[in-house]
Order: sequence, then structure tokens, then C-alpha cells
Amino acid sequence: MEPSVSRFIAARHRMLINGKWVEAASGKTFPTYDPATGEVLSNIAEGDREDINRAVTAARAAFETGPWAKMPPSERGRLIWKLGDLIEKYSEEFAQLESLDNGKPLKVARVADVPLAADHFRYYAGWATKIEGNTIPLGLAPQGKFLAYTLREPVGVVGQIIPWNFPLLMAAWKLGPALTAGCCVVLKPAEQTPLSALRLGELIQEAGFPEGVVNIVPGYGETAGAALAAHPDVDKVAFTGSTEVGKLILHAAAGNLKKVSLELGGKSPNIVFDDADVDKAIAGAASAIFFNHGQCCCAGSRLFIEKDIFDKVVDGVSRHAESIRVRPGFDPECDMGPLVSEEQMNRVCGYLDSGKQEGAKAVAGGARLGNKGYFVKPTVLINTNENMKVVQEEIFGPVVTAMPFTDATDVIPKSNDTIYGLAAGIWTKDIKKAHALAAKLRAGTVWINCYNIFDAALPFGGYKQSGWGREMGHEVLENYTEVKSVCAAL
Ligand code: NAI
Ligand code: MG
Repeated sequence: MEPSVSRFIAARHRMLINGKWVEAASGKTFPTYDPATGEVLSNIAEGDREDINRAVTAARAAFETGPWAKMPPSERGRLIWKLGDLIEKYSEEFAQLESLDNGKPLKVARVADVPLAADHFRYYAGWATKIEGNTIPLGLAPQGKFLAYTLREPVGVVGQIIPWNFPLLMAAWKLGPALTAGCCVVLKPAEQTPLSALRLGELIQEAGFPEGVVNIVPGYGETAGAALAAHPDVDKVAFTGSTEVGKLILHAAAGNLKKVSLELGGKSPNIVFDDADVDKAIAGAASAIFFNHGQCCCAGSRLFIEKDIFDKVVDGVSRHAESIRVRPGFDPECDMGPLVSEEQMNRVCGYLDSGKQEGAKAVAGGARLGNKGYFVKPTVLINTNENMKVVQEEIFGPVVTAMPFTDATDVIPKSNDTIYGLAAGIWTKDIKKAHALAAKLRAGTVWINCYNIFDAALPFGGYKQSGWGREMGHEVLENYTEVKSVCAAL
């Protein structure tokens, strides 16, 4: 471990409000744990309603009257770019913090979470100077009598509530577009993984963002999160997490009708046809579910396999599952670490029990691994059907259900038979079939002969109960801007 990381986790952490690191108004702290051991890693100031109030007041002041309000867009973009550079500068530190706090393999955090977060800020740095309105010819007015145009303005003070599966990257997904649009933010990281967001707060200061533009209030969802979602002076709330809590956020936001964007759960179909490159499809199907221990909203958790190759693909994915080395994230041989928390491990093991009781069979894995830390074996379930909980509900762990299908007509309704609609995968060499099927799947992202390909430029989000609005690309800017029509008589 880098000495700077040891020092960071040993420190007592405060919250960032109005450019200063402060204790919780209550004086309380909460622990964050190392999921590989279950031991306490760090203690952090525990935000609650009073701290959220202070943070919203600071964000409002920064938005209305601070230097941010007058800052030229190019300067805003420069600060955001600098934040990306600073993440890169401290990339090893971030990778280690992420691995310690979340449990993910250090080598994965190094090549995925951290560089993607830096790139995300750079992508949105470029947008600061490109958010524009239009001039609108009025259809019913005599020509030359009016000048009508639109302005695209920042939506205001934004509350952002993020999960623990990609702690730094989720902070980047939320902060990048909000800042480029000129909003001010109160960010609440997940209670399981607050450390990288707090380190990011230090870099936000180092980059030179004016005070109050980004406030970071760690704490629990039911207290700090709920207070942020309900706050009457927050203009918009952006949430990533469970569908259940997404609905609570929506209720809480109703008080002042704040704008809401939601990136929620999934139960994504991954469809393998018998004309696919089967070896690639097997590796792709394994990675679609086992990447990040299955703790991905878009995990390919329902694997549909054309019946003639069902046994071959199940066998191949099971071999992959069994070859995955499940170890603490810092172990150089680790391919998969522990789940994030005891609660998450118990939730996933509860699904494994329910699957067994309903008649599913684990051909790989199927249980917890060891009795220290929160490790679960990569699992492949067969003999499942569409009525089982393991097929209908999001497990958010390394568990895939494999089911046979006969042809495209058979697999389309099966794929869409879920309350979710986040992502889907298709494996075939027949491009006509692939694109025809992509059009029929009710999902925000469809990957063809690949899976989990993300890019800051590529919109991501859900149909149905997987959410409202899109992250990334230029689409996300809709979430953080208001359109003002100005009409002048000439
Ligand atoms: P969660 O939805 O409770 O937590 C996500 C965030 O919401 C955290 O920051 C949490 O503090 C906050 N939160 C919780 N209750 C809140 C409330 N009443 N008001 C405002 N904020 C609140 O997710 P949890 O409990 O950690 O995981 C449960 C399940 O949720 C997982 O098994 C998985 O199925 C799903 N999930 C989906 C994620 C995604 O990326 N779409 C990420 C994390 C969890
Ligand atoms: Mg929860």
C-alpha cells in the first residue's frame, strides 16, 4: 500500500462544505469496512439533515453570487479538465482506495475505474463551451417582426446520490455534466464506499473550484440521502442505485417538484445464437456477469442460449467461473474480490438459497467462499424458469441464470419479460439478425458481440423501471439544463 493511502485511511474524515472540511453538526461518525476482512478501514463524519442544509445553502450561494456564476465557460472547462489530470496524477492512490473500500481487484481499478473517471471529466470539460441554444423562426408571425431564441441555462443546485459499485466513476458520471453545465452540487457518496469521493473533494480544491461549487456530505441513505432528495432548495436530484430507493427519491422530490433523473437496477438478457463465434460468446457471457463481481446495474444476468449449443455454452461459462481466482483485491492473483458488504453477501446468498428451493441447479459455484470477508463463488444456475425469483429480481452478485431458447421469435418476449430495461447483449455473426433484434429489445443499451463497453460519449440509461433520463453523451446535459425561450418584438 502506498504511504499516502495508509495515511489517508488512518485519518479521521470530515465533510466538504463551502470549501472547508468540517465535522458533522451532530459530531457523529460512521465506519467504512474492508470487505476482504470485515474490519473497520476508516471513520467518517456522518452527515444528516443539518449538514445537508448547510451544504445546500453553500451550493445556492455559490450558484447565485459566487465567482462560479460569472466564470467564463472556457475557464469552467479548464477546471474540469484539471480535475481529470489530477485523478491521473494520483491514479495509483485512487486505485488502492477503491480496491480497499469496495473490494474490487486493484488491477481492475487501475485499468477501468480510475482511467474512465479521468476521461469522463475530460470529455465533459470540452462541453462547457458547447452548450448552446437555437434561433427559432416563428411559424405564425409575419417575418422580420420577432427575434426568438433559446438559452440553455444551468438547472441550479443539484443533489447527487451515488452507489458503491464504482464509487469514483459514479462520482465522475454525476459531477462531470453538472459542472460543465454550470450547476452547483451536493454529492452524497454511498455509506459503504465514501473514501474515493472524499479524496476527490481534496482534488476539487486543488484544481481551484470556487468554494461551495461542490459539497460532499457522506452519510447514510435514510438520513443524509433522504434529506437531500426532499430539500426544498434543491432544483434537481440525480440518483443511481436500487429501483426501490429510486421510487422513494421520486416521492421525496415531489414536495418542490424538483427535476429527477434515475439510473436504477437491471436484469439484462444476454443472448447467444448458435451462429455466434462460440468461444468469444462464452468469454463475453462470463465477463458480462462476473465483471465487478456482478455488482453492475447492466450485468448480463439472464443468459439465453440457442438450444443446440446450450450445453456447450453452459459448460464453457462454468469453466470460466471455476477458473476465476477469488481473493482479496490487493492480491496480485485476484480476479474477483469480495462483495462490498456483509449485507450484500447475505442478499446474494439469500438468492442462491431461493434458487435452490425453487429447483435451480448450480453447475458452478452456488455458495459463499470461506468464512472471513464477503466472498461469494462465481455461480452458474440452470433448470431455471421465468417465474423464479433468481430470474426476475436483480441479484447484484456473481450469479447468472442460463436458459435455452429456440429462435429470435422465441427469445424476444423472454428477453423483455422483466420490469427492467437497462441493457442487453446479442452474440451472432448474422448482422441482419443482430440489428433486427436490437430494435426489438426494450433496453437503453444493446451490445452486439461485446458487452460492458462504456464511453463518456455513449448515452447510458434505462427503459421501464431501470430509470429516467440518460447518463453520458450530450443526452445527460438535458438533465442539468433548463431551456429558456426569449421572444423579442422587433
Ligand atoms: P441503495 O439504493 O439503498 O443505495 C444507493 C444510494 O442511495 C446510497 O448512496 C444510499 O445511501 C442511498 N439511499 C438509500 N436509501 C435512501 C433514501 N431513502 N433516500 C435517499 N438516498 C438513499 O442500494 P443498496 O441498499 O446499497 O443495494 C441494494 C440493491 O440495490 C442492490 O442489491 C442492487 O440490486 C441495487 N443497486 C443498484 C445499483 C445500480 O448501479 N443501479 C447500485 C447499487 C445498488
Ligand atoms: Mg439500501
